[in-house]
Amino acid sequence: RGKRAFIAGVADDNGYGWAIAKALAASGAEILVGTWVPALNIFETSLRRGKFDESRKLPDGSLMEIVKVYPLDAVYDSPEDVPEDVKTNKRYAGSSNWTVKEAAELVKKEYGSIDILVHSLANGPEVTKPLLETSRSGYLAAISASSYSFVSLLKHFLPIMNPGGASISLTYIASERTIPGYGGGMSSAKAALESDTKVLAFEAGRKGKIRVNTISAGPLGSRAAKAIGFIEKMIEYSYVNAPLQKELLADEVGNTAAFLVSPLASAITGSTVYVDNGLNTMGLAV
Ligand code: NAI
Repeated sequence: RGKRAFIAGVADDNGYGWAIAKALAASGAEILVGTWVPALNIFETSLRRGKFDESRKLPDGSLMEIVKVYPLDAVYDSPEDVPEDVKTNKRYAGSSNWTVKEAAELVKKEYGSIDILVHSLANGPEVTKPLLETSRSGYLAAISASSYSFVSLLKHFLPIMNPGGASISLTYIASERTIPGYGGGMSSAKAALESDTKVLAFEAGRKGKIRVNTISAGPLGSRAAKAIGFIEKMIEYSYVNAPLQKELLADEVGNTAAFLVSPLASAITGSTVYVDNGLNTMGLAV
């Protein structure tokens, strides 16, 4: 049987989630995605109208099939957690079962189990503010959407993950080195995500024979990254200073994810794997 993957955090064809979906599809996996509720409509419409057909092309010429798109808001674990104003918001009211627990239950009901869980989402409402100017609620929102969302996803999907399965998340070097401009508690959120990767690798390894790794990716001009405001500068900085002076392709991160969740990586767990043209190894910009 081929593997089945649930990829949380795909809402267009520009981000890392999409590239990971493609790499997994190319390796024969069945693809389910979780899409942020406010972005659901436009994503499904674009998908249906063929807007992504060009970027659905796999190396063998076939088109990636997304077998199901699940609405998801990973800052809510179960319906009791959803505030009234969100519940009644018209972008949310049109969908149902989009808390993490409900999404996992629905996947279980419709597909039984999964082998691969991918977390490719982040959100920090105050990302453009320096940490010293970040509010408590902005900081906690960044942690909730970008770090705890992974804990919650793994917690709820673990019971339906087949032993030998694996999960992947995406992190950024700002967790361990100062990247001015990556604010709002997002650097803190990535540090939490990387630390949690180790603890969760232990817990999920013992509990369900599941591996947990995170990819520390270099800069990509995704929708989320453009919201931060200086992504073009980061891409240029990387190009100038990294050991490998080439553009970083989302597919290179996708391919690494496909490797990490495959049996080829059967002894790798709890790791932060850099896919950044080597930029993290430099101590001096030249
Ligand atoms: P993206 O915009 O393609 O992905 C972010 C996704 O998160 C979007 O689809 C958005 O709808 C979704 N999302 C936001 N809040 C959500 C919520 N509460 N529930 C469910 N989904 C939610 O952008 P990108 O850059 O590909 O981001 C994917 C991951 O890669 C993130 O963890 C990001 O921090 C990480 N990353 C990105 C880098 C970059 O330069 N683009 C560098 C290193 C890591």
